[in-house]
Amino acid sequence: MAKNIVEIKGLVKRFGDFTAVNSINLEIKEGEIFGILGPNGAGKTTTINMILGLLVPSSGTIKINGLDISRHGHEVKNMMGLMTQETVVDNDLTARENLEIFADLYHVPKDQVEKRIQEALEEAELVDFANKKAGTFSGGMQRRLSLVKSMIQHPNLLILDEPTTGLDIQNRVNMWKHIRDLVKTGVTIILTTQYLEEADELCDRIAVIDHGKVKAIGTALELKKMVGSGRVLELVVENAPEAQEAFKILKNKFKMNPAIDGNKITAVMEKAAASTLTEILASLDKSKIVATSVSLHLPTLDDAFIKLTGSAFRDTASESYTSTMTTMYLRR
Ligand SMILES: Nc1ncnc2c1ncn2[C@@H]1O[C@H](COP(=O)(O)OP(=O)(O)OP(=O)(O)O)[C@@H](O)[C@H]1O
Ligand SMILES: [Mg+2]
Repeated sequence: MAKNIVEIKGLVKRFGDFTAVNSINLEIKEGEIFGILGPNGAGKTTTINMILGLLVPSSGTIKINGLDISRHGHEVKNMMGLMTQETVVDNDLTARENLEIFADLYHVPKDQVEKRIQEALEEAELVDFANKKAGTFSGGMQRRLSLVKSMIQHPNLLILDEPTTGLDIQNRVNMWKHIRDLVKTGVTIILTTQYLEEADELCDRIAVIDHGKVKAIGTALELKKMVGSGRVLELVVENAPEAQEAFKILKNKFKMNPAIDGNKITAVMEKAAASTLTEILASLDKSKIVATSVSLHLPTLDDAFIKLTGSAFRDTASESYTSTMTTMYLRR
């Protein structure tokens, strides 16, 4: 069994009266891509800033490779690489110069600098742009440069804080490929994301966090199985009052456990029989509820999130992303 590279116990961070991280326990295994998934303000960045030693915890302990960071900060610092949420490349410098600065900052041995920079440029598909200023690069190119820059010292643990937020779909999928390639080199990755599909695609295990607390930890499949073994029925009706009515019908008449979000209702159908669906639609019809859309799907991480937190993922950007990605999956 792989050993734990990160062990977090009872981690708390308060800002004044506000508790941003509330008693988090996590164990991250060597060589895995571990996802910290949560909506805006869930406490993702605060958590990783404490892992990196950039923020001091209010209480709790963090060990990296068995070393408590409160006592061995200096030793663990060089084991870690970070790609921050904001792309930090120096726009006035070329791709090569950006990499040189980081190689120097992280004390890459002089005789290895040239080789590492060449590798990094290749990995980021920026060989032809090595001597161009980063300010002229597209968002995707800057993000790739930022990614390889955070790897220049060959860290054991690479932390990626929302590596694809703000990128378009093509660039996101491209970043996923680069992240997968990195894992093959043996590095452990902690990745925070607001995107359910990103966690689903990339992560070996995922911690779902909300309001500073861990709601569940597991593989994407394990999280989805928490929803149930059947299919998820999704009903969209014309307005919120009708949704309330439909909710009652599913709950009382069909003994389901529905969740409601505006004019959308979701509920797990353990036995997804066509006859049950027909009965449900007939009942709605009888109550003069018009279903504008009806669908059945296998449980997704979104369904798991609704089950775990009682609400849909709050970020609207992630919703539009979800629908685009669903289309992409269907095309595959
Ligand atoms: N220095 C600070 N002082 C006060 N409150 C803070 C501070 N840093 C973070 N917070 C609050 O703590 C909560 C968690 O913030 P954090 O940045 O960790 O969220 P996040 O999960 O990274 O969100 P996002 O997806 O938007 O990056 C938020 O409500 C935020 O406003
Ligand atoms: Mg953040």
